[in-house]
Amino acid sequence: MKFDILTLFPEMFKPLSESIIGRATSNKILEINLVNIRDFSKNKHKQVDDTPYGGGAGMLLKPDVVWDAYNSVKSDDSKVIFLTPQGKTLNQSKVEELSKYKHLILLCGHYEGIDQRVIDKINPEEISIGDYVLTGGEIPAMVLVDSVSRYVSGVLKNGSEIEESFSDDGLLEYPQYTKPEEFEGMKVPEVLLSGHHENIAKWRRQEALRVTYNKRKDILEKAKLTKEDKKFLKSLEN
Ligand code: ADE
Repeated sequence: MKFDILTLFPEMFKPLSESIIGRATSNKILEINLVNIRDFSKNKHKQVDDTPYGGGAGMLLKPDVVWDAYNSVKSDDSKVIFLTPQGKTLNQSKVEELSKYKHLILLCGHYEGIDQRVIDKINPEEISIGDYVLTGGEIPAMVLVDSVSRYVSGVLKNGSEIEESFSDDGLLEYPQYTKPEEFEGMKVPEVLLSGHHENIAKWRRQEALRVTYNKRKDILEKAKLTKEDKKFLKSLEN
């Protein structure tokens, strides 16, 4: 999968060369191309922004510069995303949907924003990473690259994207434990040491239900629940 990221601050994307995403780019499973919008300025001072018509604070990215940067990477099968607090909030099902594309172009705003005409012309899907305002779209773009890449075949060890919070059955993940068997007087739950796979699976399911019930009742309504699950949830109410 290829990402083209249009930004004024390519240096901000250094974290993507670390860890799992870094390895996937070295292995050519992912390609992350940083496009510096400033390179498309026609001005000898490399100016990319200007004051808003009608007055007001801050500077806006100029439409022609953004348009040229976009045209330098777009192809027939590209999906274009503009990171903005005005967008629809990113969630796991959107992440999974985006992972099906071969080519994503991510447009990062900075300063006060971007001239509306070039947004209208490009007509990107607008995505926010939450109801708060950041200084630019770079951190949101990294969030999107990281979350989407996890679904790209070969990026994770097989299966690790399946049994986790928010995917598939819509429950949060059950708690996990590793060695030592006792830490600060606290023991690993007995069932996990039993080697009894059926009991372990049942315990994990119930703990996933318990965690979701305690932390995120709001997502329980959309979760895929069996009769057994509902019975267990009922027992938590008392
Ligand atoms: N740019 C600034 N804040 C943002 C947010 N919350 N999501 C996406 N892009 C942004």
